[in-house]
Amino acid sequence: MGEEVKHRPIGVYDSGVGGLTVVRWLHRVLPQEQIVYFGDTARVPYGGRSRHELVEFSRQIVGFFQEQGVKFVIAACNTSSALALPVVAQEVDVPLMGVIGAGAREAVSVTKTKKIGVIGTQATVTSGAYARAVKELEPVTNVYEQACPELVPLIEGGHRDGEIVEKPLKRYLEPLLERNIDTLILGCTHYPYLLVPIKRLVGTGVEIVDPAEAAAREARDTLEVLGLLSEEKVGEDLFFVSGEPGTFRAAAVQLGYTQRVEHVEIERYTI
Ligand code: DGL
Repeated sequence: MGEEVKHRPIGVYDSGVGGLTVVRWLHRVLPQEQIVYFGDTARVPYGGRSRHELVEFSRQIVGFFQEQGVKFVIAACNTSSALALPVVAQEVDVPLMGVIGAGAREAVSVTKTKKIGVIGTQATVTSGAYARAVKELEPVTNVYEQACPELVPLIEGGHRDGEIVEKPLKRYLEPLLERNIDTLILGCTHYPYLLVPIKRLVGTGVEIVDPAEAAAREARDTLEVLGLLSEEKVGEDLFFVSGEPGTFRAAAVQLGYTQRVEHVEIERYTI
């Protein structure tokens, strides 16, 4: 790989603001990398969509990233990681990475009782991707998965706490707590926005795993192996959305990102 390939950006995508919780960790672990972020806000939530749709969306996004000249793509979205990535990774030359493997590894290293709960979107839970990934590492572990379809629309709508969030959260977490889990994977990149009420509801006996940190470390290791680590940041991060940039910008500002957000007609792209 030539010197200049190393200095190309990393493409990071999600259905909306969720992937920014992964970008936050990428900035800590890989501060020298330039990021091009895409949030598919015109088509959020992904959680109720079919594999066919998710594969098609992912092809368009990777196509857009290829035009941006990225050297590596991270699906900062569990739903897309579970359903689209295994297909699209076979179709392109640019290396792609998801977040599920990192989350599973982290949870296996944290659990003492081998009772792991996972909260995620309906599509992620139905795919069984987390249970598979955990059991590959530690076959005797019990994995209890709970779909939380009401959460992503609330988070995209700017809600972070209060009764509107706590009520559904309680309903989703109760069956997992009844199983006496000692570890809870936040199996959707939107959920770290709800860390405060989640912590309050699960109490101190449950370790919470946000796969983002482990995923950022995995990204660094992979880039190193591929000889693609950048030594210096050569350009500003860029943020794109398929919907209207205003709402996304508000969430980005909350996390400290004040860059310009641009609209992109994502359906025009493909691999
Ligand atoms: N943040 C995504 C995930 O990690 C997608 C959520 C959604 O759009 O339903 O699964």
